[in-house]
Amino acid sequence: MKALILSGGKGTRLRPITHTSAKQLVPVANKPILFFAIEAIREAGITDIGIIVGDTAREIEAAVGDGADLGVNATYIHQAAPLGLAHAVKIAQDFIGADSFVMFLGDNFIKDGISPLVREFEEERPNSQILLARVPNPSDFGVAEIKGGKVIGLEEKPKRPKSDYALVGVYMFDSTIFEAVHAIQPSSRGELEITDAIQWLIRNGKEVTSHIIKGWWKDTGKLEDLLEANRVALSGVERDVRGSTLGGTRVIGDVVVAEGAVIENSELRGPLVIGEGTVVRDSYIGPFTSISSGCEILGAEIEFSIILENSRIESIGGRMEGSLVGKNVRITRSPAKPRAFRFMVGDSSEIQVPE
Ligand code: TTP
Repeated sequence: MKALILSGGKGTRLRPITHTSAKQLVPVANKPILFFAIEAIREAGITDIGIIVGDTAREIEAAVGDGADLGVNATYIHQAAPLGLAHAVKIAQDFIGADSFVMFLGDNFIKDGISPLVREFEEERPNSQILLARVPNPSDFGVAEIKGGKVIGLEEKPKRPKSDYALVGVYMFDSTIFEAVHAIQPSSRGELEITDAIQWLIRNGKEVTSHIIKGWWKDTGKLEDLLEANRVALSGVERDVRGSTLGGTRVIGDVVVAEGAVIENSELRGPLVIGEGTVVRDSYIGPFTSISSGCEILGAEIEFSIILENSRIESIGGRMEGSLVGKNVRITRSPAKPRAFRFMVGDSSEIQVPE
């Protein structure tokens, strides 16, 4: 089997981060989401991976390279525009050839991996196997209608969903899917929908099975889901303090401090991770926080947040939480008069100040 990871797209829901970076490379527990997908695929015994890339191709290719560091063989497939998940399948046909494959959305996080699912698909050999999860808000997802264990219909973001089974971002296909993606037409939003392609398989008498996922998963396309994925990923870390912890520092629980980081006169209450070369001084870093490399956290309190590389947060006079801070950001206190909030904020940013 081969694998196809979708790492193109627009990422509009994660702006402004996605104005400058690929959303699949946003880290949880200081590791890009995309790497969790690649590892899950490798653990399922698949090493030939095609990666669909769009505008952020350069950044993704720089991070994954030829895949050797992650134990896989990566091939890049360029998608000129995000014309839909089924369009991504269409342009991957030469790479997939006559093989079966698993398609993995590069911004999805599946805590327990996909090995049993791949095994089940290989044993049962349906034309497609989809992964489903019960959700409270099915209208936000592709939704499956199921009868006697069989998938009998699929709809993309239906206003009146026929079930609460949402499609999780992992699909398995044999090569009949290529007939389907060539037969369907773009939807009203102008995309070739994978739900329409699978619906085509069902209509044409192909076998589509489903597997209800029990473990934790998230589509990390939105901030709150990304923070949730970070929380879940951090729940698995084990204490490993390599950097230096100096005068007055207390380290509680599962805390990872990478090489070269310096923590001084601060309290670290895990689970949390701090990246290489980051300096934390006179601060409190609380549970479910990931701070990337090269940051400076000075006289600040931070909880349940993700801070990306080389950012500086200094004396902000309150606790920061539920936040995603991009790269090279400066959040500081200013003695300048008049006393006021001063912002230089990129397009589509969001700032909330307390009441
Ligand atoms: P989505 O999250 O559905 O789309 P998006 O990335 O454009 O995000 P937003 O809705 O916030 O604008 O895409 C799921 C995954 O599939 C994501 O990793 C991007 C990828 N993708 C492609 O590679 N090609 C495509 O044509 C589309 C639609 C998505």
